[in-house]
Amino acid sequence: MSSNDNNSNAYSDFHLQFIGGEWQKGKDDSINTDTNPYNGDTIVEIQQATKDQLDEAYDAADQAQAKWAKTTPAERAAVMYKVVSILDQRQDEIVDWLIKESGSTRIKAMVEFSSARAITLEAASFPNRVHGEIRPSNTPGKENFIYREPIGVVAVISPWNFPLHLTQRSIAPALALGNAVVLKPASDTPITGGLLLAKVFEEAGLPKGLLNVVVGSGSEIGDAIVEHKAPSLVSFTGSTSVGQHIGELANGGEYIKQVALELGGNSPFVVLKDADIEQAAKAAAFGKFLHQGQICIAINRVIVEDEIYDDFVERFLAHVKTLNVGDPNKQDTAVGPIINEKQLKSLKEKIAKAQEEGAKMILSGEIEGQVVPPHIFTEVTREMDLSCNEVFGPLVGIIRAKDEDDALSIANDSMYGLSSAVFTADMQKGLRFARGIRAGMTHINDISVNDESNTPFGGEKNSGIGRFNGEWVLEEFTRTHWISMQNEPRQYPF
Ligand code: TAP
Repeated sequence: MSSNDNNSNAYSDFHLQFIGGEWQKGKDDSINTDTNPYNGDTIVEIQQATKDQLDEAYDAADQAQAKWAKTTPAERAAVMYKVVSILDQRQDEIVDWLIKESGSTRIKAMVEFSSARAITLEAASFPNRVHGEIRPSNTPGKENFIYREPIGVVAVISPWNFPLHLTQRSIAPALALGNAVVLKPASDTPITGGLLLAKVFEEAGLPKGLLNVVVGSGSEIGDAIVEHKAPSLVSFTGSTSVGQHIGELANGGEYIKQVALELGGNSPFVVLKDADIEQAAKAAAFGKFLHQGQICIAINRVIVEDEIYDDFVERFLAHVKTLNVGDPNKQDTAVGPIINEKQLKSLKEKIAKAQEEGAKMILSGEIEGQVVPPHIFTEVTREMDLSCNEVFGPLVGIIRAKDEDDALSIANDSMYGLSSAVFTADMQKGLRFARGIRAGMTHINDISVNDESNTPFGGEKNSGIGRFNGEWVLEEFTRTHWISMQNEPRQYPF
């Protein structure tokens, strides 16, 4: 029995949309059947939203935002602090939902819960941190004021892999900074990616209309969310292909709007010959297999200098063999289920392709239901599919680099540039190497999977545009307004 079932105060009914502060039935004919990826049980059936309901959500957001923008920083901060307190009270319940709906292991669900809590706490500081500037003018008698204002209505589209955190990472800063939100969670995680947070914000007393959750399929209502007149910013986290499409719509449609795109990754994990090999092997196992590798910043390519390649492979293999695979609800499970059949099919194809291309499979195992045990491939080259494309699953290829320069060249040989990591005993060398990587984030002697609420999170190249967290998201979710004041009559040339 989960702690959900024990708690009479637990949130339970998730079959409705949350629009204008009211829980209402979706009016579309289609149904979202939300299932548990480990055992296939139906969690809830949600009648999906129509485009008219989306309009309703945007109208509500528009109206509520005008009032919300005028509230004091203390009022907005208070809502965020209240949300943190509710998250704390409901931690077990929320962790259970993450396990049940998104196939998170207990370990991953706790990591995710902590990240979502941290960004909410960080967001509580934003209303008081946002500030303007006064700039000198070359025009006699003029004063220049730079105001930072709420951006208005923000559309948020979130993915299924870290649904709670990757949704909260957009909506908490957006709301704290005086904006309103229309959110579309991923169809695989409507609860943990949206409806659960709507309940939390409702309980925290967020005024009606500021947060709207519209459950519908991306292919059906996705374009309408982006093209709508109301949002001034579309905050999207998901695949590069959908992100590219959203970028085109947002900048090439009738209403131009800003986009913040957090997209796919292909993180290199480089082990240089002077590294602590045992520590690197353990780190690689965690950074690769946490959440079954379904993380945009998961290790996607392990690159090891030739001299220590065999030693690293042996230690990595030994460590990965100790990982428990299966029921995500068990305390010691390291690798749980894949989110859905589509992703499972893509992983099966990747396993077959790696073998066809000549990679050597040194660890595999039987796929049971949607649980894929770790698969390790050696003698992988930079041209193979495992190296060129994002895996998003518990498969990993280990590439042999001739030397440090070769390792850097392989690390940079990707259209992605999200996160990365390098292991070395020499910190100066590590720093030099890290600065040579074209990515938004690089971690020396740690894994590529890191997210802190006060440091800039985001990518280069096809991994997206914009940064989350700290003052970077503060800028992203506000608009700049230059207002000048001409204090004496200006002399014009004619
Ligand atoms: P996507 O298919 O891109 O889905 C992400 C979100 O976009 C979902 O809510 C989805 O809705 C929606 N969507 C789909 N088509 C859309 C359209 N035409 N217009 C608007 N929205 C649309 O990605 P995914 O399969 O959920 O996640 C896997 C990928 O996302 C990986 O490549 C991974 O790297 C990337 N990802 C990146 C990050 C960061 S932080 N960079 C984080 C997580 C995931 P439906 O679910 O209804 O289709």
